[in-house]
Amino acid sequence: MDIQVVNKKIKDIKTDFELILVVNKNLKHIWIKDRELLRKNNFQAISGETVLLLEKQRFYVALDSLSYVDIREACALATRTLINKNIRSLKSGLYFAENKEIYNTVKAMAEGFLLGIYKFNKYKSEKNKIILNKIIISKENYKVKNFDKTIAKTALKRARVIATSINFSRDIVNQTPQDITPLTMSKIAKDMAKNYNLTVKIYNQKYLQAKKMGAFLAVSQASPHPPQLIHLVHKHPQAKLKIALVGKGLTYDTGGLSLKLGNSMMTMKMDKAGACAVFGIMRAVSELNLPIEVHGIIGAVENAIGQHAYKPDDVLRAKNGKTIEIKNTDAEGRLVLADCLCYAQDFQPDYIIDLATLTGACVVALGEYTIGCMGHNDDLKNDFKISAGNSGELIADLPFNKYLAELLKSEIADISNISSSKWGGAITAGLFLSKFIQKKNKNKWLHLDIAGPAFNTKAWGVNSIGASGAGVALLVDWLLGKVASHNSK
Ligand code: BES
Ligand code: ZN
Ligand code: ZN
Repeated sequence: MDIQVVNKKIKDIKTDFELILVVNKNLKHIWIKDRELLRKNNFQAISGETVLLLEKQRFYVALDSLSYVDIREACALATRTLINKNIRSLKSGLYFAENKEIYNTVKAMAEGFLLGIYKFNKYKSEKNKIILNKIIISKENYKVKNFDKTIAKTALKRARVIATSINFSRDIVNQTPQDITPLTMSKIAKDMAKNYNLTVKIYNQKYLQAKKMGAFLAVSQASPHPPQLIHLVHKHPQAKLKIALVGKGLTYDTGGLSLKLGNSMMTMKMDKAGACAVFGIMRAVSELNLPIEVHGIIGAVENAIGQHAYKPDDVLRAKNGKTIEIKNTDAEGRLVLADCLCYAQDFQPDYIIDLATLTGACVVALGEYTIGCMGHNDDLKNDFKISAGNSGELIADLPFNKYLAELLKSEIADISNISSSKWGGAITAGLFLSKFIQKKNKNKWLHLDIAGPAFNTKAWGVNSIGASGAGVALLVDWLLGKVASHNSK
């Protein structure tokens, strides 16, 4: 899809359709031409409300404000609606945002358009082809002196990189467990290395055995698909900052012998969403050529049932020598992550961020839209709150405490893989991971539970039904912030 910002009046641009935003119920704006028709359509201009005037070739979307998040969402809603119509090209004005920043407005519009156009139709015999392929944004509302072409260009480029990386991540999550096995995850990583100038190392079962990653291995035991530890690296020659991203890559989670009931097993192809977010972030980091060193570490494995399955009552030994009593084989993600986090710390990163669809309890606590954020470093958590605000993702702090940590005690091993209480499951999962972070690294680590927003049963915000690419925009914003603050030092 071609998106341009041009120096022409809207009325002089020829496209099939025009998009008009109605901001904060202000129907008096000069770009709103169809007041009478809108009234007849009973248009109240309530946020998210739309009117399609076929005969006028105009599409109206209402939004509350000209904030980055609202513009992005309105533009996603626009393309999500218009791709089903016979429309090839679209034009719109560049809105004069509250903060008067061209960068944010252009980035919001372009990201929204590109995220809204996402459709997953790999398994449909009849693929409805997307014919909307050109969007022209007029800058007529901007006076020459406050319009900076290079800023608009940077915004367009970043928006394109971020949105395509999100859509890339979505495409992998949406594929089925038949198609995406740990081996296909490795294939994706190898292809990424080629296409985006990353280095990749793939480790198999033998390596996991040699490195005594007994927790990760146990989860893989019943599956015919061998586990893969995937390690992608982006290393800029001027890098001074080293960041490790660790993704949970359960290509399917049946629950293992503590089998999930039919209804809750459904959608567990999404259990690889943390890993796929890491894929998306690595792609963006490379395309933006960020001056940092980023390690993308993925534990790709299937939690199946069968005669070789690991069992409740087993005691496993993780890479760092800690023993784990298994009380529920459905709490498998934390086992894979435990070993992957140990592996990540061997590279002595400055930050370690893990992304995982780790607990249903996180969805209970925060709802389907919000990422749960856990760790020991309040400043780091705060930085992520700011990045969430910048990137349109939702995040909330789930605080650790020593009483919850107590609940992971085991009679026969160093730790139990589930809490002895049914409450606070997102936090106790985070506390379990914390046990595998060395003391000296405690403040470098953050755990993001994306179980809620990773996969949608309905469209919301910039997301269609299915995978959302949760975590990609958030991490890219945080990394861009790290680069900026490091450069200003
Ligand atoms: N993959 C699931 C968590 C999950 C649930 C993700 C719903 C997305 C939506 C995880 O492996 C799991 O099964 N967790 C258990 C933990 C329990 C056994 C302590 C859960 O949340 O029920
Ligand atoms: Zn599970
Ligand atoms: Zn899982």
